[in-house]
Amino acid sequence: MTTPVTTWHRLADTAVLLDGFHALKHAVRFGAEVPVAVATDRRAALALADELAPDVRDTLAALLTEVPEETYRSLVPRPHPTAVAALAVRPSRAANLELLARAPRTAPVVLLDHPRNLGNAGAVIRLAAGFGATGVVTTGTLDPWHPTVVRGGAGLHFATAVERLTADELPEGPLFALDPEGDDIRGTKLPDDAVLAFGSERSGLSPEVRTRADHLLSLPMRPQVSSYNLATSVAMTLYHWSAFRGS
Ligand SMILES: C[S@@+](CC[C@H](N)C(=O)[O-])C[C@H]1O[C@@H](n2cnc3c(N)ncnc32)[C@H](O)[C@@H]1O
Repeated sequence: MTTPVTTWHRLADTAVLLDGFHALKHAVRFGAEVPVAVATDRRAALALADELAPDVRDTLAALLTEVPEETYRSLVPRPHPTAVAALAVRPSRAANLELLARAPRTAPVVLLDHPRNLGNAGAVIRLAAGFGATGVVTTGTLDPWHPTVVRGGAGLHFATAVERLTADELPEGPLFALDPEGDDIRGTKLPDDAVLAFGSERSGLSPEVRTRADHLLSLPMRPQVSSYNLATSVAMTLYHWSAFRGS
């Protein structure tokens, strides 16, 4: 007999863990395919949906199965305060590459050049989703679909195209690389088809991205401060793009 638990075990190795109510809510809103979702208190989860996500309440009601606390704990690496968890199908690489290549692009792609910190990558995906960026692509060894990144992204990996690429696969478009030594960003309007590149937390932009960049831009920063955090730099740059969009 197929139960939510057998489905969970069958899919757990390949699917994306949605850890908590908010991750499930976001993933459903942005069209994720969710084959299994569990809660220890289905009624409480749906009360949260009534309050915070009436737009997807009926979808969540159809998806959520109540399981005993012990079963829930056996399915997740660590329990979430909402005691809700689900598995989603990861979008195919081919579909994401197609989204990233689509022209004309109406919003920038964020390029994280050899990022190291999983929490930063998750925060950047959340930002990109919030600003409606076309995607977040990474180079290097960090997996942007790592469970810790997905947790930091709050289920918003499904709202933007997230892929790890090689240097040869980077999307087309003018490359604006962010670096404290660049020209002041306040003098530049960022186009919708921009690729916005950010360096690694430890060593900044790689020589390859620096060489390929069409423009090197800096965020305003007082002397004696060396640099901003990666995710906050992405936030300021996307805000700058959005503030001057169409102006
Ligand atoms: C923590 S910083 C990297 C610091 C690194 N030690 C370095 O040498 O650049 C991570 C990334 O955030 C962006 N960033 C941080 N502060 C910035 C600033 N003031 N102007 C432009 N970009 C900045 C850059 O893309 C940078 O590579």
